[in-house]
This record gives sequence, C-alpha cells and structure tokens, in this order.
Amino acid sequence: MARREKTRDLPIVVIGGGIIGLSVGWQLSRRGVPVVLYERGKTGQAASRVAAGMLAPHSEVGFEEEDFLKLGVAGLEDFPRFLDELETDSDRRVELDDRGTLIVGFHRDDTERIRRLYEFREHLGLPVKWLPGSAGRDIEPLLSPKITASIWLPDDTQVNNLELLDALALAFVNRGGVLKEMTPVESVNIEAGRATGVTTATDEITAAAVVVAAGCWSGGIDGIPGESRAPVRPVKGQIVTLRMDGDYEFGHVVRAPDVYLLPKNDGRLLVGATQEEMGFDITPTAGPVMRLLERGWEAIPSIYDLPLESVDVGLRPGSRDNEPLVGASDVDRLYYATGHHRHGILLAPITAYAMTDVILDGKLPPLFEPFKPTRFMRKKRARD
Ligand code: GLY
Repeated sequence: MARREKTRDLPIVVIGGGIIGLSVGWQLSRRGVPVVLYERGKTGQAASRVAAGMLAPHSEVGFEEEDFLKLGVAGLEDFPRFLDELETDSDRRVELDDRGTLIVGFHRDDTERIRRLYEFREHLGLPVKWLPGSAGRDIEPLLSPKITASIWLPDDTQVNNLELLDALALAFVNRGGVLKEMTPVESVNIEAGRATGVTTATDEITAAAVVVAAGCWSGGIDGIPGESRAPVRPVKGQIVTLRMDGDYEFGHVVRAPDVYLLPKNDGRLLVGATQEEMGFDITPTAGPVMRLLERGWEAIPSIYDLPLESVDVGLRPGSRDNEPLVGASDVDRLYYATGHHRHGILLAPITAYAMTDVILDGKLPPLFEPFKPTRFMRKKRARD
C-alpha cells in the first residue's frame, strides 16, 4: 500500500465477519495494524457456519484446475501454522482431523467416473490409491457392501469450522481488533479514485484501506463503481446434520455420487451439500434434502436410524469463474478477499497471509496471480 506511511494511524476496515473477513482482520491485527471489522449480523453465522469444514484440495480438484489445486495444497499446508498462531491469540486449540477421505462408486457408471478422477490425480502426482471392489470397507467398515470401487485420499483433512470461527473472533479481539456486529456497511467511500473509508447507519469512518470480504454480498456494496465490483453470486447449499451416539463409529470423510458425509469431532454427522442457483433464497426444501439423505443412505446405510438434528442453508460466494478474488481492485486502497465458493475454510489461512502481504508490503504471492480481482475489471494494474 503505497500511502501507508501517511495513513499509519488510520484503521484498515474489513467488511464481513465470516471465515475470510475474520482471518484477514486477525492477521492484519497480528501485524500491529488497527483494524475495524463490520459485520451485518453476528460473526460466523452465514456460509462459514454452514460449511462442512473439509480441507480437501485433493478430492475437490476438477479436471484442468491445476492453479486451484496448487493454491488448495498450499492452503492446506498453511493450516498448522495458522492454528498454532490461533492458539497463541485465542487460547483455543483447534485440531485437524487427518483420517483421510474415500471417494466411492456403486455402479459401472460411477466406477468409470471415479477411475477417471483417480487417473487424473495420479497423473498430477497426488497421494491417491485405487481400492477395487469393496476394499474401501477395510478403511471405513460402515460403507455399503454395494460399493464397486473407491479412491483413497489419505492427505485430505477436515476441521471443525464452528470451533475455528469462535477462536478467530476471540483472537481478533484479543489482538486489538474492533468488531462492529449488527452494523451493515451502507457504502464504501471513494474519492478521486481512492477508497477513503466506509459509511454505516451510525458511523462514517476514514480508513487506510478497505477490504471487502462480504461473501456472496461482496458485489452489492454501494459506493463501489459497477466496473470495480466483484462479480459474485450466491450459490445455495443445503446440508443435513445427523447426530451420532457414542457407539456409532464412523471415522472418515466419504464422498459418494451427489453427496458427502463427514463425521465431526462433536458428534455431528454432516450430509451435504446441494449446489443450487436460487439467488438469495435460504429456504430449506424437501426434494434436495430427500435426495441428499437418500444418496447418503446408499453410501452408509446405517445413517437411516440416526437422529436428524437440523437442515441448514448457506450461500457460498461464487464468482463468475467460480474462483476466488484475492488482492487489490482497480480502485486504490480497495481490496477484495471473496469468491471462495466451496473452499472458504480451506483457503482462509492462505488468503489471510496473502492479504496482509499485499496490503502491508505491496506484494501478492505468485500463487494468487490467477486469482487477482482485476481479471474481472477494465482498468488493469501493473502492480497489485
Ligand atoms: N466445500 C463443500 C461445499 O461447499 O459443499
């Protein structure tokens, strides 16, 4: 940030108190910068809470998404450091669950599909193993005997995102960050091509920089000219929470056709998630939930008898190309950390480190080159 020396005492404003906004705000505070974070509701209550907490670059990577894969793998590698720093600042230990992931198929069609996934992962040199027939049941005995093949991804991990969100909010405040909940930002103030602060219903604050980390709401903030807005839309995800009792021994993340199942360390068993283009509609609906449960039951038949605790709906922030926007915009001192779509939890640490680098040191890490917000903007900047 070129003018940092003249704006040293002004805070950096972060808009959005989800996993990304909290992580960015906290890491900026760690670097000794005053930060004010505005959240329209309570922190961590939207998409970040409804997320499953999968840290799964190896299983989520699609064909020809190698830039994303590199980012995701590096993102996973950043987690241990991030969690250590979080423990120092929050006094809460958040653990990674590294028992691995199985992708399973049930029919010839599924088997051929997952064989292609396996071959692509092997071609990329990822840690992956092909388990023919029902061999996957040796790893996860609760899997249906009807499975025809599985892929074993030992390095994919998961985390309890609820614990992570609580610890982040604490760490941010403990580091001196100012949290303004129930305070929507009405507009970003821009003068002569520079973001100078924000206006809320009660406040007008002058800022050294403004970071938009408002998830699927990032593209609708007044004051930002149309051509500099993030092209981000809500992608609806419905997820079912079942409750495992003490004797129910389900230990691995399982991905089956149209569903994933995650056992969490607090006894929840998540069956997720739909991916729907329904605008800002957050109504739980019968059909998609019925299908999730049916697909989940095909994979792990014993879920049939588990208590159903809730159906939750989150709105993932999906950009026009479904990849994140991280770094400077084409408006001076206006930054984006949004559009993380299905990967907000996985990419929170690496995004937070990258944002502190670009805002405080003027350098975006090379891994983020394909994910610069300016790819969507008319005015390119030589240096983000
Ligand atoms: N990361 C999984 C999901 O968005 O459903």
